Amino acid sequence: MGGKPLAGRVAIVTGGSRGIGLAVASLLAEDGAAVVVSGRDAGRLARASNEIEALGGTVLGVVADAASRADVDRLVDTAKERFSRIDILVNNAGMTRDGLLLRMKDADWDEVLQVNLRGAFLALRAVAKAMVRQKSGRIINIASTAGAMGNAGQVNYAAAKAGLIGMTKAAARELAHWGILVNAVAPGLIDTDMTAVVPAEARETLLAQVPLKRIGTGRDVAEMVRFLAGDGAAYVTGQVFHVNGGLYM
Ligand code: NAI
Repeated sequence: MGGKPLAGRVAIVTGGSRGIGLAVASLLAEDGAAVVVSGRDAGRLARASNEIEALGGTVLGVVADAASRADVDRLVDTAKERFSRIDILVNNAGMTRDGLLLRMKDADWDEVLQVNLRGAFLALRAVAKAMVRQKSGRIINIASTAGAMGNAGQVNYAAAKAGLIGMTKAAARELAHWGILVNAVAPGLIDTDMTAVVPAEARETLLAQVPLKRIGTGRDVAEMVRFLAGDGAAYVTGQVFHVNGGLYM
């Protein structure tokens, strides 16, 4: 037998068709997990699925909006039907609508909370039902440095990510009884589409505060997720792991 560390496990990665999510899905597949990847764009999802399959992984793409309860339920049901179990959930789907507090629109607050926080809750609740039955599971929520230290122009995003950290700790306490471990990974400045839209000057200012003096990669984050999904993390729950080059300590 291959002896891959996650052989026989099934993972769901939300927003997994690009950026950090795609890096996570790729590493979990490399470790032998069957990966169910969700996203809103069918074309991009198909390209991501092909990319993971080319690495030798088993992958299923499901078009689903992370903020829609019906979509999230369908995502989880599809994963259960296709692979019979769910071992790992990575709540990665996320977005920003930056703006200064005094000018922030209600809609920008609402949408960021809907996708980043409510979306993660919907997936967590749906997946936990299956994991409770199995008496095992790993849930990894992708938070952000902004959720721990704040960031000007992101009161909505920082609130959502801080909320995710609180949710992680509460769920870790509730679900420990069934052997389900819940942790958060908080990335710093990572090179993806999300940060590509940040003005160069603002990026440089942030980068100057990173002791390791480079922007992070999706893989840097994915390596931490891979660890938390694996057997080596059996005694780890309710924690926040910062992957940020030292930006926040
Ligand atoms: P990205 O913009 O490349 O990827 C975000 C993914 O989430 C995309 O696949 C997108 O389609 C998906 N998504 C967004 N809204 C969705 C919705 N309603 N339904 C389904 N999917 C949706 O950005 P990145 O950087 O890969 O972000 C991944 C996660 O990492 C997010 O939760 C983000 O907040 C977090 N993060 C990113 C940091 C960075 O510096 N890039 C820093 C800290 C956290």
